Amino acid sequence: MRARIRLLPVNPEKIERTLILVKPDGVRRSLIGEVISRVESKGYKVVGLKMMEPTREILAKHYEEHVDKPFYEPLLEFMLSGPIVAIIAEGNRVIEGFRKLAGATDPTTAEPGTIRGDLARDQGTKVVQNIVHGSDSTQSALREIEIFFPELN
Ligand code: RTP
Ligand code: MG
Repeated sequence: MRARIRLLPVNPEKIERTLILVKPDGVRRSLIGEVISRVESKGYKVVGLKMMEPTREILAKHYEEHVDKPFYEPLLEFMLSGPIVAIIAEGNRVIEGFRKLAGATDPTTAEPGTIRGDLARDQGTKVVQNIVHGSDSTQSALREIEIFFPELN
């Protein structure tokens, strides 16, 4: 009897891109490689990568949804406190997949096994420092990639 091999269908509509940032705490702690390694080990492709010192203007655009939150100003100051690494990762459902890899916003309660759960903790700072950012929807991903990689347009 001949075995029949069935491949899972590839849905090109689900190939997505997401924006990942290694935040200043991640860069200071030499975790750039660790973050990229987890993204690549999961099977996503890194298709854009740069180290940069974003301006306040760029960060204000990126975090405009949080402008009225009490942590907004400390968040901007934290993000301005050192270089970051901006990454575009690609793959089927990468937006949701990277959010899972990153874990919950609060590193104290983020599950072990996630980037935040394994590598971060509460440092008693004014704003939560949690190593990475990941886009939270298709629309945010498109918007954020344009903010951090305007040269791709
Ligand atoms: P991100 O945007 O960085 O991927 O994180 P997130 O979706 O899990 O969290 P979000 O609500 O979008 O908040 C953005 C970043 O602001 C800081 N934050 N601090 N209560 C607090 O002190 C507080 N809440 C949020 C964190 O750095 C969070 O990642
Ligand atoms: Mg967010």
